[in-house]
Formats: sequence, C-alpha cells, structure tokens
Amino acid sequence: MKPVGILFVCLGNICRSPLAEGIMRDIAKRRSHAASISVDSAGIGGWHVGAPPDRRSIAVAKAHGIDLTGLRGRKIAAADFTAFDLILCMDKSNLRDLRLLAPAATAHKVHLFQTFAAGRDEDVPDPYYEPAEAFEALYQTLEAGCSSLLARFERSS
Ligand code: 4NP
Repeated sequence: MKPVGILFVCLGNICRSPLAEGIMRDIAKRRSHAASISVDSAGIGGWHVGAPPDRRSIAVAKAHGIDLTGLRGRKIAAADFTAFDLILCMDKSNLRDLRLLAPAATAHKVHLFQTFAAGRDEDVPDPYYEPAEAFEALYQTLEAGCSSLLARFERSS
C-alpha cells in the first residue's frame, strides 16, 4: 500500500518542522511503521533554502538519538499540496499562509499539527529567538504530538 505522506511545515524550515520530521520518522521506525508513513518538511519562507537545520534543533535531536544533519531547508511548493496526504503546520500564522497557498481541492489536507494530532487548539510557538534550553521543551511538545499522530494512524489502519 502507498505510504501516507505527511509534510510538516513551519516558517523557516530550520527549527520546528525538521525536528518534527526527524521525530516522526524515528517513532514510525521504532513502532514498525516506517513503510507506511513517509515524512518530509518545508518552510513558508525561503530564507533558509539549502541550509541544514538550526544547530539547536540538531543538538536536541542528537541528545535523543536522532540525526538531523542530512536535512536541508526548502520552501513549500505548489506540487506539495498534491504530493502529500497531510500538511501539518506548527502555528496559526503558518495555517493562514497555507490556506492562502493551498488549491481549493487540497484545502482539506492542511491542519494545525497539535489539533490534528491530539485535538489541542495550540500552536507550537516559533523558538527562533528563544535560548537553546527552550529546544528541549520544543522536543517534548513535538514528541508528544508525533506519538499522538502515530496512535491516530494505528487506530484508523
Ligand atoms: P522555524 O523557526 O519556523 O521553526 O524554522 C524559524 C527559523 C527562522 C526564522 C523564523 C523562524 N527566520 O525568520 O529566519
């Protein structure tokens, strides 16, 4: 069966969404769903296209056994709205931007990550100007959300 394609989106594609991508891939692998879920990430903005994730995201991922060093920033493209089954964004500002970008036929794919994963109407706030210590809390938020997301897939498959 074709894997479910999930695209995580944030503003810059260097802090939150690459970390979510790495965490989701790791959880899917550990729970033997690697073949049924395909994960990627992208940014609303293009400032960090081609750049590796922020060193603070790389460091917190590494501390939890996840390697993000091979990831590179990219900007969301029109083709993503057809290529992916789910487009999960980190905050309501991303959601507004994605709703403007999404062709009408694909609008149903776009959701706030925490709402879709766990029924929580909450942002994963932009950590860019936060100290490095804030990234552990970011990791925990994303890990909890990705676990809920996987549990949702397990219930529906
Ligand atoms: P992200 O964080 O959206 O979680 O990747 C940001 C990274 C860079 C910028 C903003 C947010 N920036 O303005 O460059």
